[in-house]
Order: sequence, then C-alpha cells, then structure tokens
Amino acid sequence: MQPAPQSAAAPPSPAHVAVIMDGNGRWAKARGLPRVAGHKRGADAVRTIVESCAEMGIRYLTLYAFSSENWKRPAEEVDDLMGLLRIHLTTEIDRMSRNGVRLRFIGDRKRLAPDIVRLIGEAEARTRDNRRLDLVLAINYGGHDEILRAARRLAGEAAAGRLEPDEIDEARFAAALDTAEIPPPDLIIRTSGEQRLSNFLLWQAAYAELIFTSVLWPDFNRQCLADAVAEYHRRERRYGGS
Ligand code: IPE
Ligand code: IPE
Ligand code: MG
Repeated sequence: MQPAPQSAAAPPSPAHVAVIMDGNGRWAKARGLPRVAGHKRGADAVRTIVESCAEMGIRYLTLYAFSSENWKRPAEEVDDLMGLLRIHLTTEIDRMSRNGVRLRFIGDRKRLAPDIVRLIGEAEARTRDNRRLDLVLAINYGGHDEILRAARRLAGEAAAGRLEPDEIDEARFAAALDTAEIPPPDLIIRTSGEQRLSNFLLWQAAYAELIFTSVLWPDFNRQCLADAVAEYHRRERRYGGS
C-alpha cells in the first residue's frame, strides 16, 4: 500500500476504527503450536494496537474479541479464550487507566460467567472518565443478536404504551443498540484474508470503509494499522451522494 499523502488537505484520521481480529488459529498452526498460543499472541497485539490508535488520534477503537457464534468452538478453546479475557481484564486495567483509555463492552453479558460480568462492570466504572480513547470490546457479540435485543426492548416499550411505533426512527433504533452513544465505525479492518463481516456491527457498518488484509492478527502491528489508515485516506466516502 502507498503511504498517506502528507498534504494540509489530507482528511482527518478516522474517528472510529473497528477490527475483526482473525487468524490466531492459523498463526499458531503455521508454527506447529496449539491454537491457544495464537490467542495469547493475539492478546499481545491488542495492547500494541490500542497504544497506536491513541497515538494516532483515533478516538474510538472497537475490537471483535468473541462472537455470539464462537460458542460453537470446542469447550477447551472457549475456556482458553475466557481465561485470557479474565487475565487481561485484570492485568491491563491499570495501564489502560493511566493511558486515558475508557473501556466499554458490547454484546450480551447474560451468557458470560458471573466473575467476567463483574470484571467488565468494574473496568467500565473505573475508566468512565477517561477521554483519550474509547476501547470498545465486543464479547459474546453478534449483529443479529444485538438488533433482536434492541427490537425486543422497543417492542416492550410500545406494548407498555410508552412509545408509538411511528416514533421508531433511525436515531431511536440506534439508541437501543449496544453501541448507543458510540459513533458508527469509519473504517473496519479484517485480518487473515477472510472477506466477510461474520455478524460484526451489521447496523453500524452501513457506510464504513472496509479493508481486508492477509496479515494474521498476531502479526498485525503499528505499521499495518498505519497502512490501513493510509488506504482509508485514499477512499472517497459518498454516503449515496453524487
Ligand atoms: C480469531 O482467530 C480469534 C477469535 C475468533 C476468538 P481465530 O481463532 O478465528 O483464528 P483462525 O481463523 O482459526 O485462524
Ligand atoms: C470472527 O472470526 C469473530 C472474531 C474475530 C471474534 P471467526 O473466525 O469466528 O469468523 P468466521 O467463522 O471465519 O466467519
Ligand atoms: Mg477465524
């Protein structure tokens, strides 16, 4: 990819970057290692990218960490992923707090273990006033599930007589999603060469720029992010206009 044009007219950094962090298993397989080794290196890559985004002035970073479909994986792998989440929620929180990172979570918490739900709540409360970067972790997240939960909530309000069905417009619907108060992503990056959304931010992705890279997530570094942002700068966003 070409470097970003360094002119005064260069568009601003994307405000919101979202990443489908894929390829941990293939990274491990290529080295003859168990899949969990790829997930561990993937967690290390998260730290680098969070710091890089903060330095680049990106205001929101959403990371797809565990989908509502990832429960289909073998129990041992799910346990490994939840274990890594526990460790990182415990050990990284101080560093995040110090670096001005606000942690937020999207996805359905109901299926998560109670101690993870507690760690998530604590992380959100502790970092609530941080303003440098909002790090949004998608855990047990699926776009269909999120839209269904929002629809159910709005239907409940309508049935209770608190909301007229005609009042449900885009703003009202967006406010019922897990991402209420978070702007839609400007750029969605997927690593590992797959070219699909896999149920990620389906409503919010309406006008996102999509970038697919063959780099496996554990190898995704600051330069890869800079390359993706440079590619984003070369795109022309039209939103249906001429
Ligand atoms: C992404 O890597 C991590 C999660 C989905 C949790 P994968 O585990 O999907 O890795 P591949 O796609 O098998 O290489
Ligand atoms: C998407 O990756 C989910 C996350 C990165 C958390 P998957 O590896 O689960 O997606 P598919 O199965 O290849 O579509
Ligand atoms: Mg995968």
